[in-house]
Formats: sequence, C-alpha cells, structure tokens
Amino acid sequence: MSSEATFDLGAQVEAARSLALSAIANAPDAAAVSKIGSDLANKKSALNTLRSGLGKIQDQEARKMAGQLINESAQEIDRALQQRIAEFLIIERAAQVAGEGIDLTEFVSPNRRGYSHIVTQAMERLEDVFIGLGFQVAEGPEVETDFYNFEALNMPRTHPARSEFDTMFIEPFSVEHEANTVLLRTHTSPVQIRVMQTWEPPIYAVMPGRVFRRDTPDATHMPVFHQIEGLVIDRDITFAHLAGIIESFTKAFFGNEFTSRLRPSFFPFTEPSAEFDIKRHNGDWIELGGCGMVHPNVLRAGGIDPDVFTGFAFGFGIDRMAKERHNVEDIREMYTNDLRFLRQFS
Ligand code: DAH
Repeated sequence: MSSEATFDLGAQVEAARSLALSAIANAPDAAAVSKIGSDLANKKSALNTLRSGLGKIQDQEARKMAGQLINESAQEIDRALQQRIAEFLIIERAAQVAGEGIDLTEFVSPNRRGYSHIVTQAMERLEDVFIGLGFQVAEGPEVETDFYNFEALNMPRTHPARSEFDTMFIEPFSVEHEANTVLLRTHTSPVQIRVMQTWEPPIYAVMPGRVFRRDTPDATHMPVFHQIEGLVIDRDITFAHLAGIIESFTKAFFGNEFTSRLRPSFFPFTEPSAEFDIKRHNGDWIELGGCGMVHPNVLRAGGIDPDVFTGFAFGFGIDRMAKERHNVEDIREMYTNDLRFLRQFS
C-alpha cells in the first residue's frame, strides 16, 4: 500500500472520528448517546469498516501505524461517550430529584382572626344603634323564676297568655312556692323588671339575650333563640315617643329607605299594646316585634310609681332578622356549626 493510500486512510479515520465526536456532542440525552455508542460498535460502522480493511495494507509498519490511529480514535470516541453519558446522568438525576422532591419547608399561614356568628353580629349592631340613640345595655339571667318571667309582667298563674309561652321548667311547677319556680326565661322581658328594680329612672335600656321555648326545631323555629328588649321609663313618656323611637331605630338599623308602622295588639305587660312592622319603599310589610306602654302593674312590680313615671317597652327576635338579612333558608343552619356555612359571613 502506498503512502498515498495510508494518507487517505488517515483522512477517513479523521472524518469518522470528528463525525462521531460531533454526534456525541449534539446528542440531546443519555439514551441518544447510548444509541450512538451501539451504532459505533456495529461491525459496519465507519471505524470498524476501516479496521477490517487493515489487513489489506502490505507494509507492516504502515499497517501498525494505521491500526494505532484507528485505536486511538476509537478510544477517544469511547471516552467522549462515557463522559457525555456521565454528564447526562448528573443532569437527569438532578431533574428527577427536583421533580420527586417533597417541600418540607413549613407553610406558615398568616394569622387569621376569628369573627362573630351572624346572630352575634346582629346583636352587636343592634346594641350600637341603640347606644347611638342614648340607650344603655343591660343583661339578666337566662335561668329565671316564675315571678320575673310571668308574674311581675302582669301574667299571674291563671293568666291565659302563659300558655303561649311553651316554658321549659328547671324544677316542677309548685303551687306552694309558685313565684320561685325556676325556669328558662321564655323572653327577655323579665330583664325589664330587674332593671327597674336596680336602676333609678330615667331608664333608657336595651337588653339582648338568649331565650328558650319548648319548640321543635324547624326551618323557622329553634328552642333556643335570641331577643332584644327595650325599656324607657321617664316622666311624661307617651305613645308618640314609642312610635318615634321605633321609626328612628328602623332607619338607623335597616337604612333610610325603610319605614315602620304600629298595629294594635295585646300583651299582658303593656297597655296599650302594638306590634310593629317594617317595610322598604314598595316592599311588603315585615312583622318585627311587639311593643306598648308599660302596664302600671309592671311598673309597680319594678318598684316604680306609675303616678310619677310612664314608659314604653318593646321586644323582638334577633335570629329571624339575621336569617332574613343573609337570606338563610333554614334557621337550623345557623346552629349546626358547619364552618362552610359560617365562613360565608366572616
Ligand atoms: N316578650 C314578648 C314576646 O316574647 C315580646 C314583647 C312584646 C316585648 C311587647 C315587649 C313588649 O317589651 O312591650 O313575645
């Protein structure tokens, strides 16, 4: 074989070498590099073909040099293959770790403040509005005696109005000490008596709280619910003051587009008595509660001289107001403590 032919072989080895090296350098991933490796190992690969042609070189020295050239190229290509595969393994491993990793850094949620139940919200707003009208807030016990819940409110034991209050008794009603019979208050009206007994007139008070009746729960009733009571005792208080306060309260609490009206009614503890309704312009009248001029017997039970002082009282339910305001379908939903329900009103 001439040196011409050897030189030609050298150029072919060089071409095969640079082709293989650039293929390795441009391979997109480890699998592609492996594929190049196995293609190069194939008997018909460029270098292997050249290798198998070595036997045709007559000159021993030239054959040896050509063989060495091919081997060196093959080794260089092999190193490039290994190195490239190793690089890809590192990259792929890093990607795998990043993908499978679990972030164990603690997620610190911002401090969330609690918030009041919608009935509490309504109660607090009612208090605010009445405080704005010059009233003070008073509270009384939920466990009451027959005297405060009924008798002092002009409902002696035989009074037919008692049957309207489905009372839950703590102890059996006893004829011997009927006035001291212990029960769960059926309305907030007994707090009127307690306020009259302890405060000096003039009295301008609202008394919110929980009340109890033997009612089976349904969409509009609960055996435990809330009322707010109002009481004004002063000199020369008339029915006009009552109507004025109800109207002022209606506008302050529900908005200026609301108005109120009084309808004649009956309550044992007021005379005359009325029920009051509210209405938005063009809306329907919504019944809200009861009111009236405090009955002289009630003033006397509270230790107040009916010849010196007169007054008015009113009372209404808070739960139903909150229910209407927030369009709650079923009043029982307000007491199941389902957070999904409660969080709507945060
Ligand atoms: N206590 C009455 C009830 O629970 C509501 C009520 C009516 C309260 C008239 C009053 C009033 O103060 O004057 O049904």
